Amino acid sequence: SDIFSRIALPATIAHRGLSAHAPENTLAAVKAAHAAGHAWVELDVQLLGDGTPIIWHDAGVRRCSNSRGKLKKLNWEVASRLDVGRWFDTTFSGERMATLEEMLALLDELGMGLNLELKVNRGRDASALVESVLPAAMQSLPRERLLVSSFDMTALNAARRLVPDPQALALGLLYEKLPRDWEDRASRLGAFSLHLDWRRLKLAQAQAVAASDYRLLCYTVNDTQAYQRLCQWGVDAVISDDPGRLTR
Ligand code: G3P
Ligand code: MG
Repeated sequence: SDIFSRIALPATIAHRGLSAHAPENTLAAVKAAHAAGHAWVELDVQLLGDGTPIIWHDAGVRRCSNSRGKLKKLNWEVASRLDVGRWFDTTFSGERMATLEEMLALLDELGMGLNLELKVNRGRDASALVESVLPAAMQSLPRERLLVSSFDMTALNAARRLVPDPQALALGLLYEKLPRDWEDRASRLGAFSLHLDWRRLKLAQAQAVAASDYRLLCYTVNDTQAYQRLCQWGVDAVISDDPGRLTR
């Protein structure tokens, strides 16, 4: 059996952990997703200035911490002291930024699946990210519970160069809008899936991808009507801030 059948994607994946109920991309958000019964989470990974891989979305820390400044200017000694929970709710005061290593250990312990998004913000080095993230992720999680995605083609190509066998690592192409040559791109990469913004997805596009060998995921789906429509369109999984609110 190939990787397409081995990866049992659930219908819904918790975006940045259970980000509607806990501070995004934290250990708390992943614990909350697990407690709510979600089997998979989507998380963003980047490097600090000192090369430490951490779970974080933005290029800076202003929105999701009690401090400010760019990630590339932070080292772990400073970053590890930030409060990344209080901005969301005082009940999460004292939550600390998660390193990739800490997060992988938690996911392994909980037996959860991970859609790891290689987040290459402006001016950051895609290859350095891939080289420090992939070996760790692949060592901690079985290939059935790991799906690595990115908007960044350099990152995806570097990942495939590092792990040439498509069966050994599932890769997902992230697009805001499906490009016309998506099938060529997916085949050249040896992709597992396409991850599309549901707001810009047309029925005919969804049907074309659903009819292909590639899995189709949509982000970020927080509306039940949209979810039901996407299910009818043949979408395999949706990434949601609050998957528990989505009903078939
Ligand atoms: O991976 C899906 C989604 O997370 C992509 O957009 O900005 O939420 O990381 P963003
Ligand atoms: Mg993301």
